[in-house]
Amino acid sequence: MPRQFFVGGNFKMNPTSSGQLGSIISVLNSADLDGTTGIVIAPPSLYLIPLKATVRSELQLSAQNCYYKDSGAFTGELSPAQLVDANIPYVILGHSERRTLFHETSEFVAQKTKAALNATLKVILCVGETLPERETGQTAAVVQNQLQAVVDVLQESDWSGVVIAYEPVWAIGTGRVATSAQAQQAHLDIRTFLTQAVSPAVAENTRIIYGGSVTAANSKDLSTQSDVDGFLVGGASLKPEFVNIINARN
Ligand code: PGA
Repeated sequence: MPRQFFVGGNFKMNPTSSGQLGSIISVLNSADLDGTTGIVIAPPSLYLIPLKATVRSELQLSAQNCYYKDSGAFTGELSPAQLVDANIPYVILGHSERRTLFHETSEFVAQKTKAALNATLKVILCVGETLPERETGQTAAVVQNQLQAVVDVLQESDWSGVVIAYEPVWAIGTGRVATSAQAQQAHLDIRTFLTQAVSPAVAENTRIIYGGSVTAANSKDLSTQSDVDGFLVGGASLKPEFVNIINARN
């Protein structure tokens, strides 16, 4: 079975009013969207439940983060059980902004990934290298270390609930997109790693999507790469061009 193309919109801490959110959603609700693509949007968590009522059914909702405990004294956190109870199917984990600004280690991200999957959430698991790491030839090793922590705690069957987002840190929010060749190579390296570290079937079936300054203009070429199974989009997911990114393969 070919891997289903997958496009996620990571709104991050945007927008700042429900009026602006309404405009973004009405563009998506009235657009002609590629029916073969899996589409997920991740608004700030306080908008998740109201959006269920207004967003078209082809769009699935995702949280941008969650904790690993089900409940308790963890001020400011959201639990996998709460997301499941609210019928939110996805969560983004390990985004580079969480890893760098909020000091999340790969082990912590792995622990949260396992907890989310155990709760029946699907996980968009983000990995990626910094510019100094790329420039010193460490891209594959850095990404593999980030993934190894997750491999260590998951069972083979867990991987059916994981989409891997390869997001080079130097490309996120910078306007400096990876070339199609750089993205393809990194994705192929991840697939090769999964073959050895988990299984050939998991390597073949796991979607590996690219994130980092994806736009309508660069998404077409990136989408032709054989190991690029879609996108995780930040800034451009707040704009009408997100529709063109969703439809990149048309
Ligand atoms: P960007 O963000 O598209 O604004 O570069 C991507 C991401 O952080 O997921």
